[in-house]
Amino acid sequence: MRSAKLLLAATALAFAAPAVMAQEAPPVLAAETTGTPDERAATMLAQMTLDEQLSLLMGFFGADFEPARYTAMEGSRAGSAGYVPGLPRLGIPPQWQADAGIGVATQGGAPDKRGRTALPSGLATAATWDRGMAHAGGAMIGREARADGFNVLLAGSVNLMREPRNGRNFEYAGEDPQLAGVMVGEQIAGVQSNNIISTSKHFAVNDQETARGTGNSVLEEAAMRMSDLLAFQIAHEVGDPGSVMCAYNRVNGPYSCEHPFLLTQVLRNEWGWPGYVLSDWGAVHSTAPSVNAGLDQESGFGLQSAAWFRADRLRAALDAGEISREQIATMVARILRTMFAHGVIDNPVEEGQYIDFATNRAVSQAGAEAGIVLLKNEGGLLPLAATARRIVLIGGHADRGVLSGGGSSQVYPGDGPDGGNAVPGIEPTSWPGPVVYYPSSPLEELRALLPHADISYHDGRDHEGAAAAANAADLAIVFANQWASESIDVPMHVEDDTLVESVALNQRNTVVVLQTGGPVLMPWAGRVRAIVQAWYPGRMGGAAIARVLTGAVNPSGHLPATFPRSLDQLPHPGDPQEGDVVYTEGATVGYKWFDANGLEPLFPFGHGLSYTSFAYSGLTLSRAGEGLVATFRVTNSGDRAGADAAQVYVSGSGWEAPQRLGGFARVMLEPGETQMVSVAVDPRLLALWDIANPGWSRAAGTYRVHLGESSRIIVDSAEITLPAVHLSPHWRPQ
Ligand code: BGC
Repeated sequence: MRSAKLLLAATALAFAAPAVMAQEAPPVLAAETTGTPDERAATMLAQMTLDEQLSLLMGFFGADFEPARYTAMEGSRAGSAGYVPGLPRLGIPPQWQADAGIGVATQGGAPDKRGRTALPSGLATAATWDRGMAHAGGAMIGREARADGFNVLLAGSVNLMREPRNGRNFEYAGEDPQLAGVMVGEQIAGVQSNNIISTSKHFAVNDQETARGTGNSVLEEAAMRMSDLLAFQIAHEVGDPGSVMCAYNRVNGPYSCEHPFLLTQVLRNEWGWPGYVLSDWGAVHSTAPSVNAGLDQESGFGLQSAAWFRADRLRAALDAGEISREQIATMVARILRTMFAHGVIDNPVEEGQYIDFATNRAVSQAGAEAGIVLLKNEGGLLPLAATARRIVLIGGHADRGVLSGGGSSQVYPGDGPDGGNAVPGIEPTSWPGPVVYYPSSPLEELRALLPHADISYHDGRDHEGAAAAANAADLAIVFANQWASESIDVPMHVEDDTLVESVALNQRNTVVVLQTGGPVLMPWAGRVRAIVQAWYPGRMGGAAIARVLTGAVNPSGHLPATFPRSLDQLPHPGDPQEGDVVYTEGATVGYKWFDANGLEPLFPFGHGLSYTSFAYSGLTLSRAGEGLVATFRVTNSGDRAGADAAQVYVSGSGWEAPQRLGGFARVMLEPGETQMVSVAVDPRLLALWDIANPGWSRAAGTYRVHLGESSRIIVDSAEITLPAVHLSPHWRPQ
């Protein structure tokens, strides 16, 4: 309330001939203002001319683009996504924006590609089920970004995985709103711990890349509230992003960036979020309708945007009475208060600072090691026995490096015309490419860890030769890759299934290491003995893979998404469509769809093996606030130290699916060690969205709580009786 009133006062002041004021007395600089972020923003606003205000509402593309299509403005940071000029007269710094989903990403020509630290993919981080890991990764990105002079990071990607073929799944955090929301929220908090702003994106229901700029995601409101929007809501509660990026696509008709329901009703009025909305690059389609819907800043002018928020257009809309000066002031105030609130003004960024790459690479490697998922391990083939003498690695460029995902989130590993790419020249070499391999060779790392073994490499192009090499070895490790990228959707299989088949036919001890953007079909799964999902493992991926294979690291990742057996198990088996993309499955996403339809996946949500084993006991339930708490003991019942991801599922009647993930905890245990664990279940996960009486409604009754090793291996269950409850749309956890 207080901030709204202040804003009105400031708006009135903003009309009081500021140009004259500016001449009479020197302005109060941003850093000199005092009070709350809203008060400080109001002080600034009161001193700004209309032109100055309008200049903050449109961002420019930050990178040069070849061939001579666009030259970035002076003042922008080389190779960056965006630039909003500052106001030196008032001490308001520019907003230097960088893509930052898995590290500081750069675009444009060769000299502008900065070598920065890439984390494993977002999906790999989600597979750690480790909040601390997600936070540490975000903090690492933020540190490097700050050292590069960026103060607004385009991070916090939390679109739900509805479509396993979505080319951007690797940037996101999987199919469950609780897991994705918590993990991405932690990443955002980590980024922002560096006194800079992070976005959450892409708001909302931007769940495929096919026709992303024109497609209309059709999803019934209650279902949206319980799925895609809930993931954002939880990420906001955990991470408090300063900014939200509205998406390219339409949602139930209107474009995301001119959507009053999404941008004003949900974000502001219901969630009480005080930040500013910036558009995806080129996602704006109007001036007045976008302003009136709640968009604050258009991004990417110059290369992509149509400049709907250029000063002359905003002025024309003002003159026509389609928008008001109060609205402009509010938009500017939101941007400024966010810069104050997140430390951007008081802790200005400076380009060219020292980056501790050794420390940052260690963060990336720890994330990869915790996120790699051991999917199958027949007869304990892994970890590689010290007795395995002759090992052959086949395919996937495993002699040179590890794969990464493409698009605006692409982080380059180092210097040189190809940005340090370990395997340059693979098509596509330009957008949505290039295909980038990080120089972290699984072959070299394995050789270092197993000095007494004879480890060779076959590139896998000639299947017969690969099969013969496999035959001659004691054990074969096939690297099966799937490259995915922003702006495309991808077939749900690895590049060369028949290579895996040929090797498996000739070598019983075949291990497959997957590097994929998301779930893939595995027609050969029954014929290989071990499968390791390495995702896109980031800058130190070769070391992480080798350490998991040899047992230097005990695998502990768990799937953040279901791996189907076949396409026809999906809600929409056909290829992603243009036009209306009708999500008839509603909130029944991922494992919920598989559970509700009695489908047996290849590997279920939550699945992940270890070289040790865990036992659970003593499950008890108690009420806590409007929700509940599950308490239980986890014991490491094997003979190696290892981490477990304990999963709590909840069941109620009349829900979209038989069970939902209620909460989770990652526990690190020495052999024989037991820990008591408590997992709180958010009351919204025990309720349904009520359209008739907006908010979350829970019927009185008996609810079941399950303790799982995965969504399909339930080891204990208990019941609790809960009263009816209605939570308003404003409800948030304390
Ligand atoms: C992507 C965004 C990205 C922006 C700026 C867009 O194409 O969808 O995620 O932040 O470009 O590079």
